[in-house]
Amino acid sequence: MAAQITTGTSELRDITKMERIGAHSHIRGLGLDDRLEPRGNSQGMVGQAKARKAAGMVLKMVQEGRIAGRAILFAGPPSTGKTAIALGMAQTLGSDVPFTMIAASEVFSLSMSKTEALTQAIRRSIGVRIKEETEIIEGEVVEIQIDRSLTGATKTGKLTIKTTDMETIYDLGTKMIDALSKEKVLAGDVIVIDKTSGKVSKLGRSFARSRDYDAMGADTKFVQCPEGEIQKRKEVVHTVSLHEIDVINSRTQGFLALFAGDTGEIKPELRDQINTKVAEWREEGKAEIIPGVLFIDEVHMLDIECFSFLNRALENELSPLVIMASNRGMSRIRGTNVRSPHGLPVDLLDRVLIVSTKPYTEEDIQQIIQIRCEEEDVTLAPDALNVLTSMAGSTTLRYALNLISCAQVIARKRKADKVDVEDLRRAYTYFMDEKRSVQWLKEQQGSLVFEEISAVTVTSASDTPMPMGEAVDT
Ligand SMILES: Nc1ncnc2c1ncn2[C@@H]1O[C@H](COP(=O)(O)OP(=O)(O)OP(=O)(O)O)[C@@H](O)[C@H]1O
Ligand SMILES: [Mg+2]
Repeated sequence: MAAQITTGTSELRDITKMERIGAHSHIRGLGLDDRLEPRGNSQGMVGQAKARKAAGMVLKMVQEGRIAGRAILFAGPPSTGKTAIALGMAQTLGSDVPFTMIAASEVFSLSMSKTEALTQAIRRSIGVRIKEETEIIEGEVVEIQIDRSLTGATKTGKLTIKTTDMETIYDLGTKMIDALSKEKVLAGDVIVIDKTSGKVSKLGRSFARSRDYDAMGADTKFVQCPEGEIQKRKEVVHTVSLHEIDVINSRTQGFLALFAGDTGEIKPELRDQINTKVAEWREEGKAEIIPGVLFIDEVHMLDIECFSFLNRALENELSPLVIMASNRGMSRIRGTNVRSPHGLPVDLLDRVLIVSTKPYTEEDIQQIIQIRCEEEDVTLAPDALNVLTSMAGSTTLRYALNLISCAQVIARKRKADKVDVEDLRRAYTYFMDEKRSVQWLKEQQGSLVFEEISAVTVTSASDTPMPMGEAVDT
């Protein structure tokens, strides 16, 4: 069940990628080579070499799976690629290493306590790889014989199946006959039947039948007739997260809650039982723990209670790698009046490795703009690219990236297939960036409704983002 859930989401991701373009849809990985050196421009990633390399090293530790309970903090000014790098890491991890991404403010908006929300996020980020042995029947179909009763209500039959070494006849009941006809199994097909679930799957046509033209389509796959025994034991491996095991076993909810996302609070006793069970499976060699990654974006939005909970959680043996991102300099820790670097308490900062992201150079910005244009299917005239790059320098990278699609709408209106400098200029006048908006507010003093703020709150709540151009604001 759970294995299907994971494959299901990856398909879903592919589909959405085709349909809509998100802010980070050009990011396909970290763009590192085998020695973890960042390539200049690869997998949609440009520049920010040190942070990317650090991210690659962290991934290496996760993939080796030996380190639990580490935390990394990406700190840097807005739009320097913190979220982008985290998404690049997610794509580099294998499909069965769990990666959970939450924005810190989600913790407050769910209908459960903050610590429960964090616990669920943590347990979602730990995978359990479970090995199971199932019995299968595998072979080439020699003959299927079906006897229908006069009314047609019941069917019985016989299936003759062979390998290169033996041949056996099985009795078929109605259910198996239906399963075989649903898969359109004919004599000459090589099939696998899972004995516990009764699921039939077709592997292909046997090479011996390659001259039977009438039973062939354009996509017919030919396979060898299997060797050895017809009944075999086979090992299947699937990965589920601890959270999925929790939900499936919480009797009030059942696994359907996984689809609804409405899992409610899960009792700590149940979690203890599951931890013990998983530990037993590990001892017996049936299961393996795969510590994954929990990414908490905008981590300064967590409050002091969440931070102290995280401190403890990181020391747990069953802890994922926690990656956080913050764009704050010195700012107030939520829930207190204490100011601290990045808005994180010092005891948590002491447990994390800090990776800083720096503002981009002009060449980097130009390349990122080009990548985004390709992604959004927009052609920029060469001088428009230069103008947009310098706009990004005077405003922000994000503002410049947002202008691309606006300028394209303007270019389309005059039926041009290329975006020109003039289109960019017009988009620039229609949409303000932050700096111009502040300027405009100053000019409008008195005509908009301004909220009066007392002097006390001004001093304590000045948690401004890091300025562009410096790493830390003290
Ligand atoms: N190195 C990079 N290569 C390619 N694209 C990038 C890179 N860095 C950032 N971008 C793109 O620039 C935009 C802004 O970056 P991002 O959202 O990652 O910034 P951030 O550091 O998370 O900012 P904030 O602190 O405001 O959340 C995104 O569209 C992102 O995909
Ligand atoms: Mg971000």
